[in-house]
Amino acid sequence: MASGKIPQTFIDELISRVDIVEVIDSRVPLKKTGRNYMTCCPFHNEKTPSFSVSPEKQFYYCFGCGVHGTAISFLIEYEHLQFPEAVEELARGLGLTVPREGESGGSSKARRDLYGWLEKAACYYQQVLAENSRGKIARTYLEQRGLNAEVITRFRIGYAPPGWDNLLCALGGEVARNPLMEAGMLIQQEGTNRVYDRFRNRILFPIEDRRGRILGFGGRTLGDDTPKYLNSPETPLFQKRYELYGLYQATECGRFPERLLIVEGYLDVVALAQAGISYSVATLGTATTVEHLNRLFRVTPHLVFCFDGDRAGRAAAWRALEASLPELHDQRDVRFLLLPEGEDPDTLVRAEGREVFSTRLRQATPIIQYLLEVIRAQVDTEGTDRQARVVELVRPFMAKMSPGIYHTLLIRELAEFTRIAPDKLSRLVQSRAVPPDDVPSPTEKRTTRPSPVRTALGLLLVRPDLARLIDDPARYAEYEVPGAKLLAEVLTLLKSQPNLKTSAILEHWRGTDMGRHLARLAQWTPLVPEEGMATELKDALKRLEQQALEQETTHLVDKARISSLTDAEKARLHSLLAQKHARTTTRLAGATTR
Ligand code: CTP
Ligand code: MN
Repeated sequence: MASGKIPQTFIDELISRVDIVEVIDSRVPLKKTGRNYMTCCPFHNEKTPSFSVSPEKQFYYCFGCGVHGTAISFLIEYEHLQFPEAVEELARGLGLTVPREGESGGSSKARRDLYGWLEKAACYYQQVLAENSRGKIARTYLEQRGLNAEVITRFRIGYAPPGWDNLLCALGGEVARNPLMEAGMLIQQEGTNRVYDRFRNRILFPIEDRRGRILGFGGRTLGDDTPKYLNSPETPLFQKRYELYGLYQATECGRFPERLLIVEGYLDVVALAQAGISYSVATLGTATTVEHLNRLFRVTPHLVFCFDGDRAGRAAAWRALEASLPELHDQRDVRFLLLPEGEDPDTLVRAEGREVFSTRLRQATPIIQYLLEVIRAQVDTEGTDRQARVVELVRPFMAKMSPGIYHTLLIRELAEFTRIAPDKLSRLVQSRAVPPDDVPSPTEKRTTRPSPVRTALGLLLVRPDLARLIDDPARYAEYEVPGAKLLAEVLTLLKSQPNLKTSAILEHWRGTDMGRHLARLAQWTPLVPEEGMATELKDALKRLEQQALEQETTHLVDKARISSLTDAEKARLHSLLAQKHARTTTRLAGATTR
């Protein structure tokens, strides 16, 4: 890739200048309540606001569905941008140019240029399709498949002629080489410097983003050779876990269709559109991801997954169901329509027409029924044993669902099937449910005291400036206590950059497990008042030190039991035990004088 990483220093700068309240408020109007701002969560359906934005932490959090993050995360989620795009967007608002490592600017331009090159490629393929001689064979094929000129134009379908360098030559030869390579349109021959066109003698379906910019292509062979479909590889512009074929056409001109139909193939989308069902999209040779779902739910709460009735189609439906369960909210409605074996939406809508096909859609099976249908079909034994098995199999899926209407529905359906009273069943299912994430929601009180590391990190995320009170933070990295290393890193970072805000700290660990850990801790609001925070932090670090020393003592004592210690270890253990003794006596002395 021509463009390097965005320097972390720039992210720091960006976060320190940007105001998350403004960023969110311009998209979802916020209301000030106390120190924070609130609104109805844009990421799930709700009637009373539980989405809170903290100007101090520059962090948002939803008490309802748990989404959280920084201004950058918000844009990634809300506008479905990639990380660099979100950074670009924020930078643009501030009139800043995003620098790249190892490069003197101009990389967002490089990205814009890639769109330009792909646009040129699409035009070229469209033009070849229209050509008298070269395009004939492809036009005949599309005609055989029943596509009319209008829909071919609307979806910008084209034809890549046979040959190794048509695209490269048509787009200007050497100047086009690097950008086309980066856009996934060329393949480099192994062990040489030579490149050749990726798509040859294929019908090409441009894959567009929601603004209609071309990100890549899907190419179908005209004959029977394999692979039947060849897609663009993952590129800086095209990531198939985000993209949906046909979403641009389905939402063109700001249209928000009442429901979206998710099908398997390019030709299904195109054929349905031609038949007047212009609200279908396809994933691009992958299972449905949560990223797809987020994008779809942004358009409409009503989704219908419509797959072939064969084994592959059923597997795809199941994966879609698994991805959807955690995303279900009360207003959302997800249904499944499995077509008769050997049929797909393309053949079916062609055979029976729009009306009949629409009737099928209306009769699609709601997600809960579908879940139960599939599970019941898996359990073939009879009698009470069968019911127990079904409950057992449903349990893990129920654990993935958030409480709400669907959860209740599932319990009710299951109760009917097993003839167990709903509340009893509910207890039964929950009794062995998977424990939730280890971090409590901010509204729930922990019964046990948080560990010193968590306390310290939590406090630092609220008041990063407190780091200046701590000397020699690197020593914590030596402690064999979970999280101590992260704590040392956070402290070190803050000592060198004392003005970082919470969100800027989080951005340093974006995309890592530590980052996720920190983001969860950032949701925590310490119970100590502002003035007590410094003492609380020092106290937590003292407890941490103690914890580490105890651990080391135990370790050495254990070791002494089974083998002999080195002289150095003996000396260390003596000193540790002496320290411990001193601590105990002072504590005792303190207790008696009181
Ligand atoms: N697919 C793919 N790579 C393949 C085969 C399929 O990426 N080698 C994806 C394509 O997105 C394709 C979808 O899976 O559109 C469905 O594939 P399939 O059912 O085999 O093809 P159809 O869509 O029915 O294609 P056609 O009608 O052109 O035969
Ligand atoms: Mn087909």
